[in-house]
Amino acid sequence: MNDPLAFAAEQRGRFYRELDEFLRIPSVSAKSEHNRDTRRAADWVRDQLTGAGLKAEVFDTPGHPVVLGEWRGAGRDAPTILIYGHYDVQPPEPLELWDSPPFEPDIRDGRIYARGSADDKGQLFLHIKALEAHLTTRGRLPVNVVVLAEGEEEVGSPNLVPFVREHRDRLAADTVVISDSAMFAPGLPSLLFSLRGLAYFEIHASGPSSDLHSGAYGGAILNPANALARVIGDLHDDNGRITIPGFYDDIIEPSRETLEGIRALRFDADEYAREVGVTPSGGERDYSALERMWTRPTCDVNGLLSGYTGEGAKTVLPARAMAKVSFRLVPGQTPERVREQLERHLARVAPAGMELTLIELHGGRPWRASLDGPVFEAASRALERSFGTRPVLTGEGGSIPIVVELEEMLGANTLLVGFALPGANMHAPNEWFATDCFERGIDTLIHLYDELAGS
Ligand code: BES
Ligand code: MN
Ligand code: MN
Repeated sequence: MNDPLAFAAEQRGRFYRELDEFLRIPSVSAKSEHNRDTRRAADWVRDQLTGAGLKAEVFDTPGHPVVLGEWRGAGRDAPTILIYGHYDVQPPEPLELWDSPPFEPDIRDGRIYARGSADDKGQLFLHIKALEAHLTTRGRLPVNVVVLAEGEEEVGSPNLVPFVREHRDRLAADTVVISDSAMFAPGLPSLLFSLRGLAYFEIHASGPSSDLHSGAYGGAILNPANALARVIGDLHDDNGRITIPGFYDDIIEPSRETLEGIRALRFDADEYAREVGVTPSGGERDYSALERMWTRPTCDVNGLLSGYTGEGAKTVLPARAMAKVSFRLVPGQTPERVREQLERHLARVAPAGMELTLIELHGGRPWRASLDGPVFEAASRALERSFGTRPVLTGEGGSIPIVVELEEMLGANTLLVGFALPGANMHAPNEWFATDCFERGIDTLIHLYDELAGS
């Protein structure tokens, strides 16, 4: 047999069993109690790559391991692609909201339910199987391939930049290919024109030296919870605009073509409401929902901590309050600049007698695609061959901070082609990946490597 597609069809049952095995490893990067599991997942990816016919190695880092796979038999004239993905997953909690256990994959109604099925183990696995299909049936790949799989994406990739810098020569590539995002709609694949960046902070407010009786002291004491609530409430005005001075100044607006492209997409508000339980009513008033998610920055409280939150009432003035606040950034903005702006803003608005401290957790720059050039065309053809329709160009509200770093360090452009569906519950209970996208995803990537060879 020398047809990779026929091979993939014939081997499908085994592919599902192997994915099941991968998804059973609870490779939660945020929790050190899972360090043995992330290690196991890295070894599993290495063994899969070796089984597919690549040379593969696991590298230790100060955090979770990096897996590097290579196949360079296509010759000097063929392009080299670097496939990036992550084998780590988000914590599965709250467990009681899962209909089947997060690390016991369950296929029902055409969906594979498990933590990591969509983000990103399932999608990384598509590439491994497409590589295997080519190498097994034809004994070669049409392009040179480097696979870079990390185990720290969900915690901000702290060790990947040093790794890439150190191994820059081995990672050199013409194009970076990533499947870690979603299609626009069922049956309608997409290529990404942008990802937002991220700047993530904790704001700590500290008041009295300990919690106090709220009757005995209330009125005379500035309550850190009240004060912090006010500060974060004032981060937006009545039109949903962020009030930090200078916050919007550096933004580089999307091109007219991009904006027209977004307007031409059909956004189904009802479907959206069914999916998330509310209408898209947040954000800046003057922009459409897709624009607000893809082309505008945000400021969101991700967590709040203060005072008594147990059962019943406790009359207490908390000594401290804390808010986790993150910003999604768009081109022109940088995490460093936003930090400066936020710091200055907090110093200005902190009420007398209240100390506000800012701690930076992690960040990443926004990314915008270079849309011209043959790579997008090659990817469009590959998607058309397996989905029967050309992809639409979409933005993405999420972040993959390493993309900009990879492009700069390797001098390559990135192609983001994802196979999750909207509503896949990434980071949430009942994460799923459609079996149809699993199967077409492998076929697409088989085509993609062929198409990229000619680009
Ligand atoms: N795969 C996601 C990013 C994403 C989400 C792309 C949805 C497309 C659609 C990635 O794993 C992720 O979750 N990134 C984090 C960033 C990080 C620094 C923790 C994010 O966006 O919050
Ligand atoms: Mn991901
Ligand atoms: Mn994620």
